[in-house]
Parts: sequence; C-alpha cells; structure tokens
Amino acid sequence: MATETEKDSVTGTETTGHEWDGIKELNSPLPKWWIIIFWLCVAWSGLYYIVYPTFPGWDGLWEYTARKDLDRQMAALQADRAIWLDKLSAASMDDIKKDGDLLAFAMAGGRASFADNCAPCHGSGAAGGPGYPNLLDDSWIWGGTLDDIQTTVAHGVRWAKDDDTRVSDMPRFGVDELLDKTQINEVADHVLSLTGGAAATEAGAEIFAENCAGCHGESGEGMAELGAPRLSDAIWLYGGDKATLVETISKARGGVMPAWGGRLDEVTVKQLAVYVHSLGGGQ
Ligand code: HEC
Ligand code: HEC
Repeated sequence: MATETEKDSVTGTETTGHEWDGIKELNSPLPKWWIIIFWLCVAWSGLYYIVYPTFPGWDGLWEYTARKDLDRQMAALQADRAIWLDKLSAASMDDIKKDGDLLAFAMAGGRASFADNCAPCHGSGAAGGPGYPNLLDDSWIWGGTLDDIQTTVAHGVRWAKDDDTRVSDMPRFGVDELLDKTQINEVADHVLSLTGGAAATEAGAEIFAENCAGCHGESGEGMAELGAPRLSDAIWLYGGDKATLVETISKARGGVMPAWGGRLDEVTVKQLAVYVHSLGGGQ
C-alpha cells in the first residue's frame, strides 16, 4: 500500500495516499461549515449533559426537571386551594351562601364533581329522567334547602349501607293487595285530577284520604320528611299518565340513590350540595 500522496490527474484533487489494488482514495474533506456545526453540536450535547438531569441520580447543574416544576406548581396550587378548602370546611351552609367568593369556589368544585359522579344518573345537565329526579326544578322530594340537599347527597336514599340513609317506603298497594284493581284505578284518577287530568270522584278522594294523604299530604302537596313527592304539580318522577300511575301505585318504586359521604370527602359533598342547590329552585 503506497503512502505517497499525489494529485489525481482526472479530478485535480489530492489523494490520501491509500491505495488498494490500484484504486486510490481522493482526499475530499467535509466542508468547513459542516465540521463547525458538527463540533458545535457535540459541545452543545456536552453542556446539555451537565446542565440537565441526563442520567439517574444526576439532577443537572440547574436542578431543573419538568417533574419538579410540576410538583412546585401543584404545591402552590394546593396551598392556594387549602385556604379555600379550610374555609369551606369550617363554614356553615349559611356562611357559604353569604360569601360570594366562597360560593364561587364551591360551585366550581361541585360542578366538576357532579360531572364525575352524578351525571350518569341525573344527566350531565341534571335534568334527570324517569326514576332520576330533575335537580333543576323547584320540586324537591327530600327538601331543597342546602342542608336537606347535603343530607341527601351524604347519606343517599334507601342506601342500605348507610345507617343514616333516607328511608321511606310507599306500600305496594296492588302487589300486597291493599287495594283492588278498581280502587287503584279510582285513586289513580284522583291523582290525575290533582293536575286537572281527570274528573275528581268521591270514591277516589276517599281512597286517597285514607291511604295516601298520610305521606303525600291531604291535597297531594307532598311531604319532604317522608320523601313523598308532590302529586299536585305536573312534575313526575316516574310519569303522570294513567298507566304509569297505576303501575306506581300497584308496585311502588323504591328508587335508590347511593350515599356519597363515604366515597367523597366532606368538603366535596358540601360543594356538591351548593352546586345542586344553585341549579334550580333551591329553597
Ligand atoms: C345510581 C344513580 C344515582 C347517582 C349516581 C346519583 N343519584 Fe341522586 N338520586 C338518584 C335517585 C334514584 C334519586 C331519587 C330517590 C328517591 O326516589 O327518593 C336521587 C335523588 C337525589 C336528590 C334528591 C332530589 C330531591 O328532589 O329531593 C339529590 C339532591 C341528588 N340525588 C343528588 C345527587 C348528587 C349530587 C349525586 C352525585 C354525587 C347523585 N345524586 C348521584 C340516583 C342517583
Ligand atoms: C308511606 C308513605 C307513602 C304512602 C302511604 C303512599 N306513598 Fe306514594 N310515594 C311515597 C314515596 C316515598 C314515593 C317516592 C317514590 C319511590 O317509591 O321511590 C312515592 C311516589 C308516588 C308516586 C310517583 C310520583 C312521581 O312523581 O312519579 C305516586 C303517583 C304515588 N306515590 C301515589 C300514591 C298514592 C296514590 C298513594 C295511596 C294509594 C300513595 N302514593 C301512598 C310514599 C308514600
């Protein structure tokens, strides 16, 4: 292998002096600009290696990591929220109603938590559906004050796992043969008559007074302590047509709402109560 360099006669370029079986290598070095950028990149990566956390255990000269940055931001946020959460936890429902900022904070938390936990049953707009009460209106089964709503949310309705759950069972007038078919028909007509949907009859009124008024009130105005819905408005939990009424009276319904007190913390339940209260005609 020759080591002498020479000028290649065809291209006019110097050779490197390497030769294999008569094949010679031209010496055409990389352009200067390329070399400069290459070494700049090498230098840059070296600096980067030192300044940033490049391998486990090395936090970098600047000690900057995106995770630490996030932790810092979260801590600041938590500290900020903690003030409000403490305030909210200490405040009575009445205090919250009066303090505009606290109310706004509670509302924001309540809205988020509602979407996560309540929307599947009550609908994302809280308008409910058959069996799931509309929370936007002014008709409350279990009462619509902030405290009432807080109790409902914390302990649920007919939720067996909570000792303080709201319980009230409408008798199954048909299934348990407390009333016969004709009587159920008559009393259903009486319920309809409360909202002008049928003519009132004496027989229907009598059955109602004897069997229903104890829970639903003499004129069907409802009773929040017993969770007995108002029957004299056109707002129906299960439906206000004759067939549905007959079915409700025959079988009763016993809707179940889970208790949230064990699953969500106390402050979240408060936030939810404030949010739900604000949605409709809170009392
Ligand atoms: C599994 C379905 C379900 C979920 C989830 C649910 N609810 Fe309910 N909720 C019900 C049912 C059913 C009732 C009606 C109970 C009855 O018949 O009295 C009810 C009733 C209520 C009432 C009482 C309404 C009134 O008129 O008195 C409030 C308030 C309420 N829910 C709020 C909430 C909130 C807040 C959440 C979320 C934390 C939630 N619910 C999640 C099913 C549910
Ligand atoms: C022990 C109390 C109690 C008695 C007595 C009672 N109810 Fe009820 N009623 C309730 C409760 C609680 C509900 C809520 C629905 C449920 O069971 O989840 C209800 C629901 C209803 C509903 C459904 C309302 C809606 O919005 O869809 C109708 C209709 C009704 N009752 C009619 C009657 C009639 C008619 C009688 C008498 C024959 C009667 N109830 C007797 C407690 C009672």
